[in-house]
Amino acid sequence: MSILVTNYSIHKEITQEFLEIYRSIIREKMKIDPLAEKDKIKNWDMVFPTLFEKYQKYIKKTSKIAKKLQLIRELGEKYQFFISHQVIFENDKWKIVPRKKKIHQLGTIYTPSEISHFIIRWIFQLINENSYQVKVNWKIADLACGPGQFLIDWIELGSSIRLPQPLSLFGYDNDPIAIQIAALGSFPDLYIAQKDSLFDGALEQRNQFDIIVGNPPYIKSSAIDDDYWNKLKLKFKSAYHKFDLSVVFLEKSLCLLKPGGIAGFIISNKWLTSKYGMKIRDLLLSSTKILAIIDVSQISIFSNVSTYPVIIFFQKRAKIPSKQQKSDIEMKSLVRLYHIEKITDLEKILTGKIKGFSIQQHFFHFTPHHSIITNFSINEHELLSHFWNLPQDSFFFLNDPKSPYTLRKGIHTGNCKNKLIVNEIHNSEFDNLEIKPLITSRLKIERYKISWQGLWIRYNKSLIDKSKGDYGSLREPWIFEANPKICIKLFGIRIQAAIDFFRYYTNNSVILLLRKDQNPAFHTNSKKFYHLKEHSEMHSFKAIFSHIEEEFYYILGILNSNLISSYYRIMYRHTHVRGNYLQYYIKDLGKIPIILPTKHNFKIIRDIAQLTRRIVKLHESFLANRVEIEKEEKILNKKIDSLYGFNSSYLQKQID
Ligand SMILES: C[S@@+](CC[C@H](N)C(=O)[O-])C[C@H]1O[C@@H](n2cnc3c(N)ncnc32)[C@H](O)[C@@H]1O
Repeated sequence: MSILVTNYSIHKEITQEFLEIYRSIIREKMKIDPLAEKDKIKNWDMVFPTLFEKYQKYIKKTSKIAKKLQLIRELGEKYQFFISHQVIFENDKWKIVPRKKKIHQLGTIYTPSEISHFIIRWIFQLINENSYQVKVNWKIADLACGPGQFLIDWIELGSSIRLPQPLSLFGYDNDPIAIQIAALGSFPDLYIAQKDSLFDGALEQRNQFDIIVGNPPYIKSSAIDDDYWNKLKLKFKSAYHKFDLSVVFLEKSLCLLKPGGIAGFIISNKWLTSKYGMKIRDLLLSSTKILAIIDVSQISIFSNVSTYPVIIFFQKRAKIPSKQQKSDIEMKSLVRLYHIEKITDLEKILTGKIKGFSIQQHFFHFTPHHSIITNFSINEHELLSHFWNLPQDSFFFLNDPKSPYTLRKGIHTGNCKNKLIVNEIHNSEFDNLEIKPLITSRLKIERYKISWQGLWIRYNKSLIDKSKGDYGSLREPWIFEANPKICIKLFGIRIQAAIDFFRYYTNNSVILLLRKDQNPAFHTNSKKFYHLKEHSEMHSFKAIFSHIEEEFYYILGILNSNLISSYYRIMYRHTHVRGNYLQYYIKDLGKIPIILPTKHNFKIIRDIAQLTRRIVKLHESFLANRVEIEKEEKILNKKIDSLYGFNSSYLQKQID
């Protein structure tokens, strides 16, 4: 017989046991057929049934529930090992090796008991705290129960807690062997059935369960069978883009939960921020209260696979609220966030030693594509909460339809860059009105300062000849001709903005901030600007500033401040990073809240405008003194913090 080896040390004991069984199967077979050893797959396939029979006998024999549960759990672990490994014949040796592909196709990675225990105990705590309505006839389900890890835990832990009785446990899985293991205990209130939980008729009726727990299968779109993939696409909203199967299980759980029902899952974190997770995020955000998210991605929970899981708990809302109600509820709904790096920290969460922090569920409506971002520090969280709690009528967003401002992108040179941009012009061209001085982010915008570096653009539409496949856009001329305007760099560690009085043209590495009434059409096309005109009273900068320039200085000071740069960074660093730099998108810059003048703050707003003007002048001066500029900026930052009512000693460090 060849030598049997395995290089897989994590499951040493199980490997050993499997090798022994494998050997004995071969020995038995070889008594009848000397060539039986060669039939490696058939022999391997017999290992688990042999083990199953052995366990079945043990379980039948024992009358102790705890012992039964322990044996079922053990067999479940061994089954996981069996399906995730195979025997191969290599270099004259038999080897037991992992079958990664198989695991990825089946999504069969069972949950370690530390995790399933935690999820169940957390739910028990919630019930004990009475924040969940106490009732009888509870129905608890795991829609992808495998060999029943969560259900076994429920039975085991349930005996130590007073739960309203009766309750019934339901476990479904499409793997017939896993189901047989889960059913081995023959417990009276445990119903186990082999089902495709996503399509089974009995699970079509909504609102069936009070609690749903589990570890939904993570199977990538590319690993799902084509026909099945099409069926999922037709039936589930969450089957969107390159979805993974676990998001469909989330949607199914949401349908099956009773209003007020609670779910607790360990699940990959991918859908929280990926494009494909957009639909399921929207579903969860609108129809559930997300109770807690525990980031356990730093812990290697599942050996053998690289996944980044989170534990999430949510409660289905009682009924779909109206849009206004929804936003009110979400403002009040707090999601508890935790980050842990050791599995033992789960216990500390339960005992309150690790507290995590709360974030308004509403926040996720402001994040890009409603991403559910969870990794904030306490300081960052404090800053965000502060912004969310600004009184509604104390500020406006730059891109609010009623805002007096608009943000625009500069010229898109497309594939005509060489035709449009020129480094130098001939004497004869000096009088050509179509040639304009050009500024780019690199040439040159800094905080508070623009300096033209001798670049020109031919502002002539006919140079972009679409019939020859040219593309690009010169944009409307008024956005460059407006005076003044603010130019903002597209990339940077922080927001870098400068005021322009010279009517520079810019390319699209620059975002322009303009007043809507600088557009000549504003004065003729009143219909288009209906909102602005009607609500022109909303902002009363005109009442406190004698000149439009001052208003621009005020906005410039705000944009360049530490406070606003930190806010933008915290909100968008997860999704808007290119290299080390953040990208500044119009839609997100547009969400920066600008404080409106009131009779209490108008003096400080005027101060901010004047100080910013002074800083701009200091930058322009040939005798610019860095120390003096820094001193003035410090004062400006303090004034802006105080205008926003924020005490931000830590901000400076973050930005430096
Ligand atoms: C990640 S395992 C979790 C098993 C168990 N709940 C645990 O936590 O250990 C996912 C399970 O989903 C099952 N599964 C995959 N697709 C399924 C489907 N359409 N219906 C029911 N179960 C499914 C797999 O067989 C596997 O047992």
